[in-house]
Amino acid sequence: MSPSRDLSRLPDGIVPELPLTALAPMQNITDVAFLRTLAHYGPPDYFFTEYFRVHAQSRLERHILATITEHGSGRPVFAQLIGEDAAALARAARQLCAYPIAGIDLNLGCPAPQVYRKNAGGGLLRSPERVDAILGALRDAVSGRLSVKMRIGFDSTQHLDVLLGSIERHGVDLLSLHGRTVREMYFGGVHYDVIAHAVARLACPVLANGEVSCADKAFRVLEQTQAAGVMIGRHAIRNPWIFRQCRQRFSGQAVSAPTLADVREYVERLYRATAATRALDTDERAQVCKLKRYLNFIALGVDAHGAFLHAVRRAETESDLFRVCDEHLLREPDKVFADEPYPGLIARPRCEAEPQGGKPRSAAQLHFGN
Ligand SMILES: Cc1cc2nc3c(=O)[nH]c(=O)nc-3n(C[C@H](O)[C@H](O)[C@H](O)COP(=O)(O)O)c2cc1C
Repeated sequence: MSPSRDLSRLPDGIVPELPLTALAPMQNITDVAFLRTLAHYGPPDYFFTEYFRVHAQSRLERHILATITEHGSGRPVFAQLIGEDAAALARAARQLCAYPIAGIDLNLGCPAPQVYRKNAGGGLLRSPERVDAILGALRDAVSGRLSVKMRIGFDSTQHLDVLLGSIERHGVDLLSLHGRTVREMYFGGVHYDVIAHAVARLACPVLANGEVSCADKAFRVLEQTQAAGVMIGRHAIRNPWIFRQCRQRFSGQAVSAPTLADVREYVERLYRATAATRALDTDERAQVCKLKRYLNFIALGVDAHGAFLHAVRRAETESDLFRVCDEHLLREPDKVFADEPYPGLIARPRCEAEPQGGKPRSAAQLHFGN
């Protein structure tokens, strides 16, 4: 497999002849502790920070700057911005250029109502002319790389070709495309055919994003979309070995299979890394709560009935947490950790469970090509 795109403007991948891999930006997840932990198991080619919120009075958040300066993985990090004020975004981008970043990334996908109602994130996809103005301002402000992380539309793909035209015109260096609309949140199928359309339409490299759940799926998504690489989010929380497994799969090697004992070690490593980056007086319960954000995803690969998911959600102290881990992960330590989430288990019921009666629409119903 070799990507057909011109990658000369992007940092080299770990194995330059293989398709690219990237960790998706995730708020309250992709912090310095998580990046360090992932790097231990085999980092992606690129990291992206969670988003810096940008408005007229905003300052760069220090904990996100720490992700850029302290991750220590040796891999390039793109700094993500969210906002709708072109001048403020350009100012924040210029400030970030003083840090060791691989580029500036604009968030055009966040589906949270409190964000899109303010016309930021995914909300901007309703106003292609506004996106064009923001990309113009960012391109003027940034002499280095500019990337965009986007969904395929707000509630349809009506504006997609116009948006892709702006991306082309402003010389965007990389597009990461989540193949769902904002309205589709995290449920229903991913429209990989729409990602394939963007890949065919653009000269710049595209990373395919959305439900790339294991190395074999990554391989199939790349075949279907012809993208330059994959961006992986929630499935890398569950399975921190996934980027190394992708490289194994892409180069035709056997894919390694971690066991439940390896998962127990991962939880401990992440707990210690998180503790090391938080203030010394951080309350133990807050620390356990923080770990549960990750465990909600990790648990999806532990047992089919969700027994671990159920038990770990109730842990309140460090000793509760590790007792539950020992019970569920060390009972059969050599059992292979599932490659895909067990069907029916949901990490975040509020945004990942399909609404009652709601049916995902097909790409044709999304007015593709209008
Ligand atoms: C907890 C969480 C936080 C997220 N935060 C961000 C963010 O800060 N910026 C962004 O562009 N996308 C964010 N996303 C979306 C992911 O980057 C990604 O596009 C999405 O999860 C689909 O990819 P996946 O199926 O590999 O998880 C977030 C997703 C999750 C689950």
